[in-house]
Amino acid sequence: MPTQNARVQSPPPNRAFIYIAAIFAALGGLLFGYDTGVISGAELFLKNDFTLTTFALEVIVSGVLAGAAAGALLGGRLADLFGRRRLLIVTAIIFGLGGLACAAAASTAILIVGRIVVGLGIGLSSGTVPVYISEVSPADARGWQVSLFQLAITVGILLAYVVDYAFAAIQGWRWMFGLAVVPAAIFGLGMVFLPESPRWLAAHGQIDRARAMLARIRGTSDVDIEMREIVEGIERGQGPRGRLSDLFAPSLRPALIVGIGLAVFQQVTGINTVIYYAPLIIQSSGISSASGAILATAGIGVVNVLMTIVAMWLIDRMGRRPLLLTGIAGMVITLGVLGLAFHMAGRTGALAWLAVVSMMVYVASFAISLGPIFWLLISEIYPLKIRSSAEGLAAAFNWGSNLLVSLTFLTLLQMMGPTRTFWLYGAFAIAAWVFSYYQVPETKGRTLEEIEQFWRSETRQQPL
Ligand code: BGC
Repeated sequence: MPTQNARVQSPPPNRAFIYIAAIFAALGGLLFGYDTGVISGAELFLKNDFTLTTFALEVIVSGVLAGAAAGALLGGRLADLFGRRRLLIVTAIIFGLGGLACAAAASTAILIVGRIVVGLGIGLSSGTVPVYISEVSPADARGWQVSLFQLAITVGILLAYVVDYAFAAIQGWRWMFGLAVVPAAIFGLGMVFLPESPRWLAAHGQIDRARAMLARIRGTSDVDIEMREIVEGIERGQGPRGRLSDLFAPSLRPALIVGIGLAVFQQVTGINTVIYYAPLIIQSSGISSASGAILATAGIGVVNVLMTIVAMWLIDRMGRRPLLLTGIAGMVITLGVLGLAFHMAGRTGALAWLAVVSMMVYVASFAISLGPIFWLLISEIYPLKIRSSAEGLAAAFNWGSNLLVSLTFLTLLQMMGPTRTFWLYGAFAIAAWVFSYYQVPETKGRTLEEIEQFWRSETRQQPL
């Protein structure tokens, strides 16, 4: 990749606005985390009010994931056509409507529709928020700013655990679903006042507006160098508007493989078996008390948040590749140990805690690697003209794999037992490491235009 140019020598005087923009956009991640996490508590009480078949319950739980896959695919494309900001405003409305429908549901059918609508919102947000933040961030801070999205996801999951716990006594599942309307409203209102991505505006021929937005975001009118780089990037990209068929152009293939590969590996290495089923795993490891299991689950949520913050601190300093490879190596080891802890016959209390500790270190390893870095890379490795469509495609693969793992986990536990199940995820983690080592490029400190140029260069190498 080319080295950085003079652009870095004139740092923008005021970055407050870009921080605000990134934080508001990241609320889309908070809703993603909250709405995927909340169901584990809410589902316990649904059967008090409805007669639910197992199938209906499965659809309520996993319909969100299917809706999210569709939303990511659709949202990515729509954000390329109509703009990131407009799409995010619509996303907030969808989150709000879905949350209200679930909270007020008078029948199973409405509940199912509400959950699928919420799923659409999650998918739309996952296909657009990272790209929006990536496009408004300066190159040297893009890593941690896009990772705000992952941080918000982890906070959302933790918030869902807390709300579920708080409303469990009154069996308040309607509150659990309905409270999501609050962050949805803040997210939507925030996006109304935030600017459109200057890169998207420029790609759609609105150069003057793009310049004005860039000046507003950077807090200075001295944006000529950056603006020139954006426009040159668009010219090099042979025309501004992207068609869907551009997604399958041979020049895009390596980037497409990286995005889809990481999307699948992020899920098949088992993160959501721990996020969704932690109490069950903990109890089956030998800690039988419910309060012990809940405490350990909350601990896992906290570790996830804290280690994501550590990753944000490191990501623009160390770079993406070292973090990714270190974290995945940690996942391989901890999945091995977790399987082993279950394997030892006649488990003692100490071994049960070994299982809990390895789960925590496993989550910590994910939180510094595949968690934030997947969402970051897919927001930065694609060319501007089809950036959101390609990001949405990767996100849709992520949701599809999430659905597959969630639907098969309990069956795998029954068929192969916990040891072999976790070792299977461990084998996928080894494959993820090898894949990342050979395929994932370093993007630290490069502008999006430099990254775009990199994929086009014939002499591409994989720098570590
Ligand atoms: C993943 C989610 C997961 C979450 C856990 C995200 O990056 O896409 O599937 O639940 O991380 O923190």
